Amino acid sequence: MAVTGAILVLYLVAHMIGNLKIFLGRADFDHYAHWLRTIGEPALPHRVFLTITEAVLTVAVVLHMWSAVSLARRARKARPVRYAARPAAHENRYATHVMRYGGVVILLFVIWHLLDLTFGAVNPEGGGAEPYDKVVADFAPSHWYVTVFYVVAVVMVGLHLRHGIWSAFQTLGWGRSRRYRALRLFADTVAALLVLGFVSVPVFVTIGVVS
Ligand code: HEM
Repeated sequence: MAVTGAILVLYLVAHMIGNLKIFLGRADFDHYAHWLRTIGEPALPHRVFLTITEAVLTVAVVLHMWSAVSLARRARKARPVRYAARPAAHENRYATHVMRYGGVVILLFVIWHLLDLTFGAVNPEGGGAEPYDKVVADFAPSHWYVTVFYVVAVVMVGLHLRHGIWSAFQTLGWGRSRRYRALRLFADTVAALLVLGFVSVPVFVTIGVVS
């Protein structure tokens, strides 16, 4: 869980920073999208680096879900009789819901997102348009509901990350240490920065700052 989760977090940080280039204007954003397809050239053929990234991400997502399911199964087998009472049971239930159902919502969001901004199949500009035009068309003021959908999905990603990063620290045995507060703060800060960075793009397009 932790290794695949870390790969996905690193991708999200890079993706969020890349998205912020939209605030530098159309030329910078489209140049960045073009650069993603030319990384490693001429040593690597066109788009090979991006294709490898896509393959690694796909494998990471599949293994992440597979680990989640097998860990949940193992936990059930290890304790077939449910606890009658558990300290902070509501906290555990909240975490399970955020991770399990939140994970499914994130997966559905990513499928929509690929159809929207990568393939253009559900984007008002269609597949042939430049990335900047696709983003601006997507979150135009008249499409405020698409922005709401993205904001909700990104908040789910943030909650998922917050708990995921924290769980990884606990797995490493750091959860009860003196660093408890610092680690919690770290998980909260990473999640909050990612959410703010991601939502800024759709929100600023919808309110007309980026057009
Ligand atoms: C909410 C703000 C977001 C915006 C504005 C945004 C924008 C974009 C754009 C423009 C592309 C196409 C890039 C290109 O074709 O060059 C893209 C691709 C992608 N995005 Fe996002 N994204 C956002 C959030 C997310 C989130 C939260 C995730 C994951 C949970 C995500 C995962 C992906 C993936 C996997 C791709 C495909 C990368 C590829 O083509 O190889 N995005 N995004």
